[in-house]
Amino acid sequence: MKKDSKLLWTEVDEYFTGLLAPGDAELNAAVKTNRQARLPEIDVSPLQGKFLHVLVRITQAKRVLEIGTLGGYSTICMARALPKGGRIVTLEFEPRHAEIARANLRRAKMLARVDIRIGPALQTLPVLHSSGEGPFDFIFIDADKENNPQYLEWAVKLSRPGTVILVDNVARHGAVIESKSTEPDIVGTRRMMKQMAKNPRLSATALQTVGVKGLDGFAIAVVENASER
Ligand SMILES: C[S@@+](CC[C@H](N)C(=O)[O-])C[C@H]1O[C@@H](n2cnc3c(N)ncnc32)[C@H](O)[C@@H]1O
Repeated sequence: MKKDSKLLWTEVDEYFTGLLAPGDAELNAAVKTNRQARLPEIDVSPLQGKFLHVLVRITQAKRVLEIGTLGGYSTICMARALPKGGRIVTLEFEPRHAEIARANLRRAKMLARVDIRIGPALQTLPVLHSSGEGPFDFIFIDADKENNPQYLEWAVKLSRPGTVILVDNVARHGAVIESKSTEPDIVGTRRMMKQMAKNPRLSATALQTVGVKGLDGFAIAVVENASER
């Protein structure tokens, strides 16, 4: 990749961000808190957060499931898009991340709409399912990529026809095409993509993105009845 192309993406991203997702006191404060707490800088970018917000609005989702909370930046973006009575369940492995997310959500006045479940998602997802908390209208998968195949399976189980499932970071700076990779994130992403393609209940596509976070992408699927495909 030519260096000047990357610079160009970044400048275009900053231009769009300045117009469409300039941030506000609560989102800026969440970023500041996350950086001060030295959370990994792996939250969605401002434009991606706005993309999530717009998707939740478009789908008119009332019940949202997020796998991977971190400091709650994406959670705030989605929570703000919910209609009255809407709820987000967000799953986070690290108690410290959850605590910081809770503080950020409280400051953004979104905590009442959000239920943070702490623990490995492969343990909290079956509990959600067995306690009948689905179906969800919109599901955002953004945790450890090696478990993406299982997360997609649980997402489908927690869905209804029409549910939208969005998976972040599927291009992985282009490394997703490395078929011989043994890197767990790549193996997990490739398996998940294959499942998405093969599952008769899913109609899916993927889009590469460029911007302040380099080359990456989203996969997005809508859940259908098998007979509708
Ligand atoms: C990419 S970050 C989430 C970013 C967040 N969605 C945002 O954009 O603001 C991934 C998060 O998933 C959490 N995580 C990693 N493995 C997990 C697991 N097995 N179960 C639940 N959460 C996990 C990490 O601790 C981290 O906070």
